[in-house]
Amino acid sequence: MSASFDSSVPEWLAPEPRPRVYIETYGCQMNERDSHALLHHLAERGYERAATPHEADVLLLNTCSVRDHAEQKVYSTLGRFREIKQERPGVVIGVGGCVAQQVGESLFKRAPYLDLVFGTHHLGEVPGLIERAARERGSRPTALSFERTWQTVLGDHEAPDPGGVRAFVAVQRGCDRFCTFCIVPFTQGRELSRPSASVLDEVRRLAARGVKEVTLIGQNITSYGRKDPSEPDLGELLRRVHAVEGVERIRFLTSHPAEVNESLIAAFRDLERLAAHLHLPVQSGADTVLARMRRGHTRREYVELIELVRAARPEIAITTDLIAGFPGESESEFEATLSLVREVGFDNAFCFSYSPRPGTRALKLEESPDEATRADRLARLLAVQAEVRAERNQRWVGQEIAVLVERDNPRRAGEVEGRSPSLHPVHFAGRIDELRGTMVRVRVERAGAHALAGSPA
Ligand code: SAM
Ligand code: SF4
Ligand code: F3S
Repeated sequence: MSASFDSSVPEWLAPEPRPRVYIETYGCQMNERDSHALLHHLAERGYERAATPHEADVLLLNTCSVRDHAEQKVYSTLGRFREIKQERPGVVIGVGGCVAQQVGESLFKRAPYLDLVFGTHHLGEVPGLIERAARERGSRPTALSFERTWQTVLGDHEAPDPGGVRAFVAVQRGCDRFCTFCIVPFTQGRELSRPSASVLDEVRRLAARGVKEVTLIGQNITSYGRKDPSEPDLGELLRRVHAVEGVERIRFLTSHPAEVNESLIAAFRDLERLAAHLHLPVQSGADTVLARMRRGHTRREYVELIELVRAARPEIAITTDLIAGFPGESESEFEATLSLVREVGFDNAFCFSYSPRPGTRALKLEESPDEATRADRLARLLAVQAEVRAERNQRWVGQEIAVLVERDNPRRAGEVEGRSPSLHPVHFAGRIDELRGTMVRVRVERAGAHALAGSPA
């Protein structure tokens, strides 16, 4: 990364040693991407990355507020940062991301030692805010407005980890769906897509750098291109990415069932290098709950959609997100979720206990089941899902699958680890210096709860 000082760099940062920044990141891949972008902006202003908060001059926290637990983690980390600032008062502490967007300036009341707060749309301004906070102690600069363009929230930056085998490419941001439980539309704003030319440019550069697998990410990626008739939809974008030489595997996240169209299903049928995996959150198996969540589809429509996708790509792995204990959820509504897990046969499901979020419409619905009931339902859901997953994993035994090799097997010497199209870790005997970044066909011999093992075919 280029990093040179110029006359605008304030004295407290210059000249040597270079100021060091530590970033802790919570939440989704978009936050990971944002932290990389932040580091990039800061490197251009002369910063180095610190491995621990104890070595850093600037401590940043990129936060998630999707559930209360994630928000609480922010306050406990801030408590740790406070201790560092007590030892070294010159340290600058900043909070960004979804909690910053949600709580705003009142974060200063909760954490008076905090120096700056920045929202999800202002990453490029953070170096300037840090410098102001350091120059004018107590000024507490913020950048929280919802003014943005695709360049400011999806724009290119030098992707990190040269030599990495996999990379994320942000193509869409924000959400217009307003599911009644979800805070994302409030913290990330309306849907915005990155022009396909810019997406393809980044993919080509990644491929030239040796990246073999790209994952296109967006908070509601199935809305890609919808606001601009001159742009492709997601299915067509995948086709164009598929045509980039050197890209051996493509993935995308996260889709909404009501928005999966024929073009996307056709992409699964036609594009060999599009991984046979669809993450399609359903949240509940009861029509009444789906309606209260305003998901815009019924259970039957979801099941029929999965049938179409499986007809297009029979070996596809289907994963989902599920919420237990949504407001007013009765025992029989909950059981409908359990029966959907069995009916679809999810390869994996991320299961959550409902968490009330500020500003969302679900707060105005009936009360959610009490905490003990929510915990009990979550445990039952996890148990059924584990059973279904174990059963589904067995179907790989005896099959030959393509594995993109990434690293040594962290648990067993002499073996390497890669990912299958379905995202399962796969282990087999081999040397990482010879195999890293290669696609190896592996015959699966054993399937555990989370991983597969086999031998090169
Ligand atoms: N746009 C994606 C979608 O529609 O699934 C991602 C939304 S969110 C980042 C990921 C998952 O968190 C959701 O699918 C949902 O299962 C869960 N989630 C969101 N809000 C929640 C809440 N208030 N309580 C519990 N789980 C929640
Ligand atoms: Fe949240 Fe629903 Fe948008 Fe997903 S589609 S980000 S769950 S509002
Ligand atoms: Fe969390 Fe915001 Fe992502 S709420 S999941 S960091 S969009």
